[in-house]
Amino acid sequence: MAAYTARMIGKLNHVGVATPSIDKAVEVYRDLLGATQIGEKFIMEEQGVWVCFVGLPNSQIELIEPWGDKSPLINFLEKNPAGGQHHICFEVSDIIVARDDMVAKGATVLNGGVPRIGAHKVPVIFVHPKNMGGVLVELMETPKEAH
Ligand code: CO
Repeated sequence: MAAYTARMIGKLNHVGVATPSIDKAVEVYRDLLGATQIGEKFIMEEQGVWVCFVGLPNSQIELIEPWGDKSPLINFLEKNPAGGQHHICFEVSDIIVARDDMVAKGATVLNGGVPRIGAHKVPVIFVHPKNMGGVLVELMETPKEAH
């Protein structure tokens, strides 16, 4: 049997940080903190964001900047003009099992509970902060090559 079940939280995959400018945020991580693993930024149209990953020895920072005028980050940046910590992402072994478990326990899964393909090309869901002590939580299926 696997060491952890589909209902169990897995690795911290990344911390999502919203920023009005990925280019400026990258400078902070590179010049102030000395980060060296900085990916290319790319658009996730469905989510309305630019994304750029900063690699750390044990995790990643996911820098996200609004893309398009319907971006869900626009509201966030109105409240937090300098940017700020936006969500945390944990891995799960099976997104559907995790989603059904969240719903069965009474949590609200965003987007009607329909998984979307996230920045790591695997299905993700978001659990409402009201169920998570005020923290927006992303659950993503562990990429197969990581097994
Ligand atoms: Co994320």
